[in-house]
Amino acid sequence: MGSQSALDVVLSGLRRLEYRGYDSAGVALLADGGLAAARRAGKLVNLEKALLERPLPTGCTGIGHTRWATHGAPTDTNAHPHLDNTGRVAVVHNGIIENFAALRTELAARGHTLGSETDTEVVAHLLAEEYAAGADLGEALRRVCRRLEGAFTLVAVHADEPDLVVGARRNSPLVVGVGEGEAFLASDVSAFIDHTRSAIELGQDQVVELRRDGVTVTGFDGRPAEVRSYHVDWDASAAEKGGYPSFMLKEIAEQPRAVADTLLGRIGPEGTLTLDEIRIPARELREIDKVVIVACGTAFHSGLIAKYAIEHWTRLPCEVELASEFRYRDPILDARSLTVAISQSGETMDTLMALRHAREQGSRVLAICNTNGSTIPRESDAVLYTHAGPEIAVASTKAFLTQLVACYLVALYLAQARGNKDPEGIRSVIRDLAGVPGAIERVLAGMEPVRELARSLADQDTVLFLGRHVGYPVALEGALKLKELAYMHAEGFAAGELKHGPIALVDRGLPVVVVVPSPQGEPLLHGKIVSNIQEIRARGARTVVIAQEGDTEVVPYADHLISVPATPALLQPLVTTVPLQVFACALATARGNEVDQPRNLAKSVTVE
Ligand code: F6R
Repeated sequence: MGSQSALDVVLSGLRRLEYRGYDSAGVALLADGGLAAARRAGKLVNLEKALLERPLPTGCTGIGHTRWATHGAPTDTNAHPHLDNTGRVAVVHNGIIENFAALRTELAARGHTLGSETDTEVVAHLLAEEYAAGADLGEALRRVCRRLEGAFTLVAVHADEPDLVVGARRNSPLVVGVGEGEAFLASDVSAFIDHTRSAIELGQDQVVELRRDGVTVTGFDGRPAEVRSYHVDWDASAAEKGGYPSFMLKEIAEQPRAVADTLLGRIGPEGTLTLDEIRIPARELREIDKVVIVACGTAFHSGLIAKYAIEHWTRLPCEVELASEFRYRDPILDARSLTVAISQSGETMDTLMALRHAREQGSRVLAICNTNGSTIPRESDAVLYTHAGPEIAVASTKAFLTQLVACYLVALYLAQARGNKDPEGIRSVIRDLAGVPGAIERVLAGMEPVRELARSLADQDTVLFLGRHVGYPVALEGALKLKELAYMHAEGFAAGELKHGPIALVDRGLPVVVVVPSPQGEPLLHGKIVSNIQEIRARGARTVVIAQEGDTEVVPYADHLISVPATPALLQPLVTTVPLQVFACALATARGNEVDQPRNLAKSVTVE
């Protein structure tokens, strides 16, 4: 809200945030004393076309939304904004209102007609009722929020209040941008950084009111709330494609820089670590008796790799659990446990709920996160930011590598704080980490054969991925990337498990990607995986082997060989994952898929 055309501001903001969800889109503007709205199923471009055919009147206050459907199919009717029966109130919403069915029944009994299948529409009706009963719009929203269960970000306008936008936040993200005579609300600052870099972080259960002359924030109980203002320091160009055909390709290419930024200022010349952000005193770090990692998807895979490093370097037991499963199995935690929550967005609801559960059990929580000021770091005892820069493509790439680096740093830091029996060994790994950005650059420079191979496999139905040791989670990650981008059947297995079942899948011509451990670092495993490659090749598989440069033993059994620079065994995923990202991206493109916005997915999953 301010004096610019709200439609232009809202649409450009939605374009920046479309990666978060793109089932449908809509806008509502306050103009000519009323509300004008447009909504369309599908991507934002459908809405933009509709607006060109039937333009809305110009207004300086407006709201908009792109949806990732939870309740109700992605249709025009279910698209946001939702209006009440008088057409004077418009609401957009992220999250899930868990008690919406009861509220809907109640509203229907009072004569309201609800046209959509969404949980959101009840809010528009309840707000209209509270406003009609005499509450101002901010108070009306507070009253409604007190009745809602679940997770929600809500933003609303009323035709009678042309210079006011109200918003509310419980569990899902909402940030405020404060400009000169104008103000903005969005799920992420990238929506408004072209207009202002001055932002306010909203806390849990808060309502914000945006007026031309300023912003007020209260709790759901109406009491004034304390807020934290901050300056957004990253560049708008970081959120643009910078000449690449897709954000994903740009983000893959940025990995050497991203990893260098994760390491920046944290490694000393003598192989020492400076991690001041881990505010947990050394004495308490020595008392920790177990590490528990919670995360989802790709972040979970980084946790699986971290387990190998943490257990090897610190001798602390480490459990890694899918965040969505964690709190439902009554995990054993106490004040001596360290829970590490890994999340690029810092808003993943499953991970947030897992960390809250860990805290309730008395565990300390350390977040590894890429998004400054997001909910997961705010609710943790300490945070290690990955500094990868904004990740826009839905499929995670640079966030994964930087999460891995952050995990290694935590493991090495714990090893140093607790007194590893081979301090020189630890210092030498720390020095090796400094060489990783250069190694990733070399991998990226040799990716044309991988792209060619991917194009030749565009008609396949299935691809299998095998690995051992830290190569096993890399295989899982390679398979996940292929599923989400190429919509192919892809499975990752521990190569040792092959004979216990999955080998039955191997048939003539089946592409099998094998991640081979370093022959020097893991000689025993190396020999075993070479046998595994022979076994599948004997059954007709087309083998794609990712191995360390100079590994001649695998050459006779590799239909396609992808060589990566030598690294210490535990750091190998930092180089072996990169070809798998390029492979999935190229294969998806060859199949005609849009890589930045794969079907059915959203960048940040703020519902459980
Ligand atoms: C896969 C992917 C997802 C995310 C997962 C967790 O490419 O992007 O699997 O890794 O949804 O997201 P964050 O890290 O934001 O918690």
